[in-house]
Amino acid sequence: MKKLSREKFGSRFGVLMAMAGSAIGLGNMWRFPYLTAKNGGAAFIVIYLLLMLTISLPTMITEYLIGRRSRSNAYSAYGRLGFPKLKFIGLMAIFAVVFVLSFYIVVGGWATRYLVEACTLGFQSTATDYSGKFASFVSSTAYPLIYTFIFLSLTAVIISGGVKKGIEAFSKIMMTVLFIIIILVAIHAISLPGAMDGVKYLLVPDFSKVTGETWVTALGQSFFSLGLGCGTILVYGSYVKTEEDLSMSAIFTAFIDTGFAIVAGLAIIPAIFAIASMNGVEPNVDAGPGLVFITLPSIFASMPFGSVIAILFFLSLGLAAITSSISLLESFVAYVMEVWNISRKKAVLFASIICLCLGAFCSLSQGVLSDVRILGMNVFDFFDKASSNFFMTVSCLLMLIFAGWFMKKEDFMDELTGRGLSKTPGWLQKLIYLLVKFIAPIGVLTIIICNFFF
Ligand code: PHE
Repeated sequence: MKKLSREKFGSRFGVLMAMAGSAIGLGNMWRFPYLTAKNGGAAFIVIYLLLMLTISLPTMITEYLIGRRSRSNAYSAYGRLGFPKLKFIGLMAIFAVVFVLSFYIVVGGWATRYLVEACTLGFQSTATDYSGKFASFVSSTAYPLIYTFIFLSLTAVIISGGVKKGIEAFSKIMMTVLFIIIILVAIHAISLPGAMDGVKYLLVPDFSKVTGETWVTALGQSFFSLGLGCGTILVYGSYVKTEEDLSMSAIFTAFIDTGFAIVAGLAIIPAIFAIASMNGVEPNVDAGPGLVFITLPSIFASMPFGSVIAILFFLSLGLAAITSSISLLESFVAYVMEVWNISRKKAVLFASIICLCLGAFCSLSQGVLSDVRILGMNVFDFFDKASSNFFMTVSCLLMLIFAGWFMKKEDFMDELTGRGLSKTPGWLQKLIYLLVKFIAPIGVLTIIICNFFF
């Protein structure tokens, strides 16, 4: 295999924070809390963890392993491992990443706008119609585009700094800040009078709410939350030193991602219950995506220290979003840079322009272009569904089949154990291989079928 002089992460802490930064994102802050509340609280969390351990985690280890072994971007990886005909698997990941980025930067832009609004004390009046305010903001033409541009530019500037000085340095500081803030906000939320009903709602298991769909939802959520199938983990893996314990860093990432999602749930759901009981109304946790941008601002308006909490909350939302979009853009940038052999700065510029153009369509599809329909969906929803229900999952399935059935078992094991340098216990190695070869592909195939036919 030809040796490439590639940049590497400098420290173990840096690797872990970059990985956690990629995993922890918008998916943890609004999707996990409301999905958990809707699907039976702790019952959902138990199912989520089970699927995470048996399917998502082995898939993550596989993506990480292919990246580190090939020391390459998602597209070139298969050629470098001796299977040039299988490059189309990597192409799926590149499509997935471009599709995810296109709508992710738009929501990142909304988060940025709400942070600015919080800092200028915009969430103080309980009389404001926050639902109307959100609808009129996202459906307007210029403002969301400007904020999308700001959010993407910040991401691009950090990536231009390179792996160690850009991505690693930013992730180390910002992830630490993020953990501190979310814990503070959760403590404040739980201490509000009436909040315990929310904690119970989130954490007491209710198996009567579990259906077949709950399983598919849980698996889909864990895939999005770990950020699988977009080449992001593959590319980060390619920057990790061989002696780093690959399975342990993957387990850590899954653990911290789930832990963060639960804490985010504790920061949000109890607050909704507390304020509802104060106002004598029914708590509304079913708001879906609107939870963060509609329900929460009205909650902040009636909460003690609400304006400070609003700033902290939207700051954490913005940080979570940006560390994820960094990993997404890096996957695309690594592809452009290495396949076309151009400098990092040029690749960042090119990739950002493509994402901005597609992102503009997603943003405008909330307003002036809402009549443009692809398969009956607006552009934003189409990008969202096409990436999570098709590109990400199919790319994961093909990656698992590659690792379990095409790659030599010795090569897989050799990389898993860091060429013998890391101390992954023997039973764990065997278990991981079994999961990668049989259980995980069957699980992924099941979600693909369910998403298509149900
Ligand atoms: N995991 C991120 C989130 O939860 C999103 C993401 C998807 C990141 C795909 C990387 C790859 O928001």
